[in-house]
Amino acid sequence: MRKKMVAGNWKMNTTFQEGETLAGAIVGKKGEAPGDVLLIVAPPFTHLSALAPPLKAAGVGVAAQNCAAEAQGAYTGEVSARMLASIGVQYCIIGHSERREYYGETNAVLLKKVRQALDVGLHPIFCIGEVLAEREAGRHFDVVRTQLEDAILPLSPADFERIIIAYEPVWAIGTGKTATAGQAQEIHAYIRNVLAAKFGALAHDTVLLYGGSCKPSNAGELFAQPDVDGGLIGGASLVADDFIAIANAF
Ligand code: PGA
Repeated sequence: MRKKMVAGNWKMNTTFQEGETLAGAIVGKKGEAPGDVLLIVAPPFTHLSALAPPLKAAGVGVAAQNCAAEAQGAYTGEVSARMLASIGVQYCIIGHSERREYYGETNAVLLKKVRQALDVGLHPIFCIGEVLAEREAGRHFDVVRTQLEDAILPLSPADFERIIIAYEPVWAIGTGKTATAGQAQEIHAYIRNVLAAKFGALAHDTVLLYGGSCKPSNAGELFAQPDVDGGLIGGASLVADDFIAIANAF
């Protein structure tokens, strides 16, 4: 049985104090969410070491939003996967479209990041998805297949088992436009098939999250799709009530 998962990506939002308040509100309301839905939050780096213990004690998973492509050394400003693991972080978002677009992260770099995360025991939440022009040209299937071929299919089966995939159409991120449930299911089924062609039955257990303007009002329809196992939530994850309501949408 695949896990149900709702992960909140706080992006570059909240001061430390605001983050503490938000994490406290999520912990306080966690009991209102179904017990079989794994909640994960991804606060900024500066918040992680203080917020990881109370979140984990409440059964909320802790993710970073990025990690370095190298293990250690003279890489000013970078944060290694090992540093993250050493403070109790369990998951790491890798390849978010904002990292790809604004920081020039290529699939080759992202494969290195995935390997760094796996080497220290983190679960990568690997993001894929097409931009609007690619969707309009009917190229979305090819785009996600290439992203998987370059950064996920090279993994060993044992490593692949620890990967979570987030499909996020870039045109839906922060725009208020959501993929329809039919569009999400169509491409999630395609993604699972691409994974199954390499990893066989393991792909049936891979958690495939949908991301892009997912909110309480549309999460139910999206999560009802057979290949949509939950969501990666940006804006709506900054409001504890909305984040919990999304978990209740299953
Ligand atoms: P959004 O962001 O929910 O604000 O559209 C989703 C994401 O970027 O993960």
